[in-house]
Amino acid sequence: MSLVIFIIMKPTTRPINISFRKLLLNDVESLVGIERLNTEHPWPVSHFSSSVANNNTLSCGLIVEQKLIGYALTLVALESADLLNIGIHPNYKRQGFGESLLTHLLIQLKEATVSSLILEVRVENHIAINFYQKQGFEGVGIREKYYSNQEDAKIMKLHISH
Ligand SMILES: CC(C)(COP(=O)(O)OP(=O)(O)OC[C@H]1O[C@@H](n2cnc3c(N)ncnc32)[C@H](O)[C@@H]1OP(=O)(O)O)[C@@H](O)C(=O)NCCC(=O)NCCS
Repeated sequence: MSLVIFIIMKPTTRPINISFRKLLLNDVESLVGIERLNTEHPWPVSHFSSSVANNNTLSCGLIVEQKLIGYALTLVALESADLLNIGIHPNYKRQGFGESLLTHLLIQLKEATVSSLILEVRVENHIAINFYQKQGFEGVGIREKYYSNQEDAKIMKLHISH
């Protein structure tokens, strides 16, 4: 079942129809397409497929005018969850869609009685770090040489209040 929400985006844009739904294996091709446009280090198809198929994954796809333009995948373990991946199609960035997606995801995590959301982000990914900080995430540590190219990861955490 998908939840349909009408929101007014930034003042210069017309009202648009956006909705959110769970991600399906059929979506993997679209997810990989967006991911490849977004980063030099994209997740492979196998990561998306196994993550979407995992029963412990809580996923959220963002649909704008019938098109999948954003995704978020979390792995839930009791009261804690890891944000595995999040992305917005380049044509739709910086218009508040990332915030809407994360807000919707947090509502779902709350319903699943999750109380903290943790993530790793490349230390050089300043846009994502800004994004997470604006949503209330705080830096809680560094994992040195975490990524295959030896880049460090910043660990960030958000407390989800109930
Ligand atoms: C990070 C990402 C999901 C943000 O999505 P978005 O829809 O563009 O973000 P929003 O429009 O909702 O922006 C929310 C806030 O994030 C920050 N932000 C977003 N884009 C930014 C940019 N280019 N520069 C600086 N800050 C930025 C700002 O604080 C912004 O608030 P503001 O517009 O009031 O200043 C998107 O940039 C993306 O898909 N990046 C590539 C994938 C990625 O890096 N994922 C994270 C992996 S850990």
